[in-house]
Amino acid sequence: MNVKETLNITSQELMKTGSPDAKLEAEVLLRHVLKIDRATMFSELEENLSEDSVNNIAALVKRRIQREPLAYITGTKEFYGLMFEVSEDVLIPRPETELLVDMAITKAKLLKKNEVTIVDVGTGSGAIAVSLAVNIPNSSVIAVDLSKSALEMADENRRAHGMYSRVKLRLGNLLDPVTDNIDILVSNPPYIRKDRLAFLQDEVLKEPLMALDGGEDGLTLIKELLSQARHKMASTSVILFEIDSDQGAEAAKISKSYFPLGEVTVLRDLNNDDRAVLIELNTSY
Ligand SMILES: C[S@@+](CC[C@H](N)C(=O)[O-])C[C@H]1O[C@@H](n2cnc3c(N)ncnc32)[C@H](O)[C@@H]1O
Repeated sequence: MNVKETLNITSQELMKTGSPDAKLEAEVLLRHVLKIDRATMFSELEENLSEDSVNNIAALVKRRIQREPLAYITGTKEFYGLMFEVSEDVLIPRPETELLVDMAITKAKLLKKNEVTIVDVGTGSGAIAVSLAVNIPNSSVIAVDLSKSALEMADENRRAHGMYSRVKLRLGNLLDPVTDNIDILVSNPPYIRKDRLAFLQDEVLKEPLMALDGGEDGLTLIKELLSQARHKMASTSVILFEIDSDQGAEAAKISKSYFPLGEVTVLRDLNNDDRAVLIELNTSY
């Protein structure tokens, strides 16, 4: 069977998952097995595949049909233009989360400090922490997670991007392991309401529960994080955290209650959905 035939058969099979991206996913799986880039794949459409390669692709397709996320099968996911290793121990970084990184980079420049201390709470794969360290050269990043296996993955990723000395890893609850004067606190915490967990897509349910479960109202961890943050932020500093699209008003209200003098803004993503809260603090006057 040649590359073109394999692609066609694979994408037909993958349609069983209901994925609108079956064709693209077929390409990703084939390139993953053959270890080739997209250009090479298209230049070799008439080349025959070895029996081993055909069998390997079939095995991966079977896993995908059982609704294992594509990123867990290939073991990688792109985030903020960088490649991250992922496994079932960590949430797969989402494109919506790039909004937090964009805003943190903008705010870091405005702080005009020689060194910016950034804390990423619930770092998972380390996607946010590493992207910030790469893009803010004068930053020192502390990445916290309650999951030891997630921190092991974050460790792989900080090393892969040459950020070992700039991203420190801490095991613990929220800001417990952090004492520093934080300039930028960023977090994509678990924020899904407990009663909605059972209705998530099969693929999402393969991700760690600890990365998804936001308690009864979805905001349990966010409240605890803001409560802790009151005592750990620098006088001029910024807090940024991700929320679900229907949590904007409530999250803004909670933020104002913890930081009455802070300027609170709800940020929208590319779909125009509420996606993050920005709290700007200036208590130096
Ligand atoms: C939604 S995931 C975000 C992962 C990553 N930052 C990203 O955006 O792709 C939330 C992460 O928070 C971690 N977490 C959950 N509860 C925590 C807690 N109390 N303290 C620290 N981390 C926690 C989870 O283990 C998980 O890695």
